[in-house]
Amino acid sequence: MVCYFSGTGNSHRVAKQIVQRCGDTLFSMNQSLKAGAEESLHSEKPFVFVTPTYSWRMPRVVEQWMKKTTFTGSKNAYFVLTCGDECGNAAPYAKALCEKKGFTFLGLAGVVMPENYLAMFPTPTKEEAETILAASVPRIAELASIIAQGKSFPIISPSLIDRLKSGPVNPLFYTFMVSDKGFAVGDRCVGCHLCEKRCPLNNITMVENKPHWNGNCTHCMACICGCPVQAIEYKKKSKGQPRYYIMENEKD
Ligand SMILES: Cc1cc2nc3c(=O)[nH]c(=O)nc-3n(C[C@H](O)[C@H](O)[C@H](O)COP(=O)(O)O)c2cc1C
Repeated sequence: MVCYFSGTGNSHRVAKQIVQRCGDTLFSMNQSLKAGAEESLHSEKPFVFVTPTYSWRMPRVVEQWMKKTTFTGSKNAYFVLTCGDECGNAAPYAKALCEKKGFTFLGLAGVVMPENYLAMFPTPTKEEAETILAASVPRIAELASIIAQGKSFPIISPSLIDRLKSGPVNPLFYTFMVSDKGFAVGDRCVGCHLCEKRCPLNNITMVENKPHWNGNCTHCMACICGCPVQAIEYKKKSKGQPRYYIMENEKD
């Protein structure tokens, strides 16, 4: 079973490609989180968790979701982290979680995808994104082949910098960066409710037909990047920047 969490569609796309290549089933953590469901998942095939990289680790919301979810059937778990650049030393944290859940950790591998972190970094143009997406296909095929054969992903030795980024920097990132206070909506908003519908944490409510953020945000960028009229900004960072959003119908 391939379980994905995705703010702007990269991890959804990677998860779907793994499903196609391995003949597996797809499970949406987005929908599960949105429903606030206590899940009990069964799979005879390995569990494959596909998520974005947030501050050189799996997103905290995914770790929390995994902790409260019951998994039965296969004891094997793989982690595929999509990233704009690299996922640092994310592996030991996923491995520690596996130990708590009774999983055998079969590795964590990164897939470079277009950068979506508009609140911090420039995002690619459509052309640049297409080049990166095309380059990701053989990498995803390579990982799917390893999964289909039941082998472990190759182990990569982390540098000291990687350890620091995934270690002490990660909690500082959540404390100082991850807040919805920087989001604002402008006059272009047409009140379509898409931001409210897509927020995986139900953090957006519509007040006078405009989004209002309620303080439980994981910075997934779904609201700002997915807005069809680019009515949402994050401080001054997002002004004039392209929006990167490839999330398709989640039931695909
Ligand atoms: C909050 C946040 C933190 C991020 N941190 C990293 C990071 O540490 N390393 C990296 O290479 N990319 C980082 N990125 C980029 C995303 O991991 C990358 O674009 C990912 O493919 C987005 O996946 P999604 O479209 O499924 O949400 C970050 C993005 C966000 C929104």
